[in-house]
Amino acid sequence: MPGTFDRARGRALTREVSPSYAEAVSSYLGTRVPDYEAARRAQEVYFAALRAHGTEVITLPTLEDFPDCCFIEDAAVILDDVAIIPNLGHPSRDGEKESVAEHLSDDFEVIRMPGGATLDGGDVVFYDDRFLVGVSTRTNKQGADFLAEHAKGAGIDVQLFDVPKSTLHLTTVCSSPRSGTMVAAMGHLKESDLSFAEEVIWIPEEEGYAANTIGYGDRIIMAEGYKKARHLLMDAGFSITSIEMTEFREVDASLTCLSVFIG
Ligand code: GLY
Repeated sequence: MPGTFDRARGRALTREVSPSYAEAVSSYLGTRVPDYEAARRAQEVYFAALRAHGTEVITLPTLEDFPDCCFIEDAAVILDDVAIIPNLGHPSRDGEKESVAEHLSDDFEVIRMPGGATLDGGDVVFYDDRFLVGVSTRTNKQGADFLAEHAKGAGIDVQLFDVPKSTLHLTTVCSSPRSGTMVAAMGHLKESDLSFAEEVIWIPEEEGYAANTIGYGDRIIMAEGYKKARHLLMDAGFSITSIEMTEFREVDASLTCLSVFIG
């Protein structure tokens, strides 16, 4: 339906973890070196979980010079038959977008952002009739406004959020796993921010990482090891697949960062 975000999740574009993963951007810098082999294994489990939910997984070859290239969510925003290719907000990552744009140009009209505007796809959360767009250390107002202009053209409303500097992306603290529902981390978003949602499942702050989910109707993929969040989601009627995310969390990344749904 025009003006409603498509939750079909038929195909996911992904990219293999880079052999230079140890150099991925991370706010935990110095705690330990991210482990490439462990991340590759975790990524295979992630692919298997998407496939088990009926998603076709398309995997682009890795980019040796781009340690964060597996976080492909940041490199494209899909709007019906248009792919918006943003200028990524961290300078070490911007070159990731070229091969994503090239791949998507087979099936989508590719639209690029003007210079000066930046946006990471991780700052965009899709909720039924609207995009929630975070203005963050990665996404500037110009980038958010550029996306908003195109979304409005497609009949989708946009609601802007200020993402605190302590949080990487808007998707770090919320997601919308099924129609009408938001999952959100306490301490990062206010009730009034999400008043549009029919149902908000609030995750306690200490388990806030688990607010990033991938939903398939009443089935949900979440990060492993978050007991309270798991119970809250079960109580809300979800059946759950949990995935080990330690190696991705180490570099500030969450479940949704590893794919962009393209149909
Ligand atoms: N390491 C994920 C990012 O900084 O974009």
